[in-house]
Amino acid sequence: MDHQTALGSLFSPEGRDDPYPAYDVLRAHSPVLLAPDERWYVTTHALTNRLLRDPALRLADASDYDQFWPGWRQNRGVASVVLSMLQTNPPDHTRVRRAAAATFTPKRIAAMRDVIAEQAADLIEAMPDGADFMTAFAYPLPIGVICSLLGVPAGDRAWFREKAADLTVVLEPISTVDEMELADAAGRELENYFIGLIAERQKNPREDLTSALIATGGTLTGEELLANLVLLLVAGFETTANLLGTGLHLLLTMPAQAHRLRADPELSPAFVEEILRYDSPVQLTSRFAAEDLDLDGVAVPAGAGLTMLLGAANRDPARYPDPHRFDPDRPSIQPVSFGGGAHYCLGAPLARLEAQVAFPLLLTTLPKLALSAEPVRRDRLTLRGFASIPITTG
Ligand code: HEM
Repeated sequence: MDHQTALGSLFSPEGRDDPYPAYDVLRAHSPVLLAPDERWYVTTHALTNRLLRDPALRLADASDYDQFWPGWRQNRGVASVVLSMLQTNPPDHTRVRRAAAATFTPKRIAAMRDVIAEQAADLIEAMPDGADFMTAFAYPLPIGVICSLLGVPAGDRAWFREKAADLTVVLEPISTVDEMELADAAGRELENYFIGLIAERQKNPREDLTSALIATGGTLTGEELLANLVLLLVAGFETTANLLGTGLHLLLTMPAQAHRLRADPELSPAFVEEILRYDSPVQLTSRFAAEDLDLDGVAVPAGAGLTMLLGAANRDPARYPDPHRFDPDRPSIQPVSFGGGAHYCLGAPLARLEAQVAFPLLLTTLPKLALSAEPVRRDRLTLRGFASIPITTG
């Protein structure tokens, strides 16, 4: 396969199913290469790591969208993402991120360990034989945990899964008109939901993250508060559900590794890092060059769009010898799966904690857990994971 075919394959269902052979071809060709769509694709660990921290790269923010897509605010799915911290640049990003980080504290996250363990144990107990792991566990756990953090009632959780799935399509490089309409509808419904919740918490504050974000006073505009609440909810579980699904699938296809983790749950942090590296739930992220760049001798002009292939960086043999081997014993596993620099994932400690608690609990409580049929992948490139993983509990 030549590099142009490899790049094209990422936009086909087969390529999305297993993008790693294409990543190898692209990386071997160059650390950064220009695609026919005039975007630059970054393939190596070293360059990705550097660029994620480079202030010369910016996110396409609201003012950029105003120029290339004047009607973007009418699609409320797009608006929720663009108006959130995820697509904001300094100084706004610094201000909003600081306010959110002050509420999303290590102490608040660490205090979630018991909530996570309790919710995971309940889901395992209720898991029927022949269940789909994604429906019975991988989605409900992160939904339950983020809803507990935000103070969202338990009854609304199934509804959130559907809305988040509809909304996150705006993160994909390509989407259909129908998908964009669904994203718009989901954005509107989620905004209305949070408008109601904000009004309620303004009257009756509680010990939850929503009340804490409201209490930051005028630091966030009303529009920013709303967009970031939607982001926290959506970013919080599509990604973590995929980490749980991908991780369980790997463990069930590698019984010797599952046996090690079952016997020694202390290995869980190393397993989770290797799962994140081996098959990242977020496969790419995008920026544009705010000035002319020299990338390892390749001239990239100001204004150019760059896509960093996080999944390719995580399998770079220059950083991880024998990269296609799953090996939790690797020294210093530091995947770029949570990004890096100013936009480094705010929820990384929470996602890690959920996975670190969930895997040993699943393996010890259900020692006969096994796949009962072939799992089905979701046909998405950016948010990589499974649509269903049929399992038997033995
Ligand atoms: C395995 C699970 C997760 C993965 C792989 C993941 C991945 C990422 C990545 C790659 C970014 C940076 C995007 C960029 O630089 O363009 C990011 C940002 C973000 N993530 Fe996560 N995430 C996960 C879970 C979570 C959770 C559980 C939450 C919240 C509850 C969360 C909230 C956020 C937020 C708010 C940002 C934006 C940070 C900023 O722009 O400053 N994520 N995530």
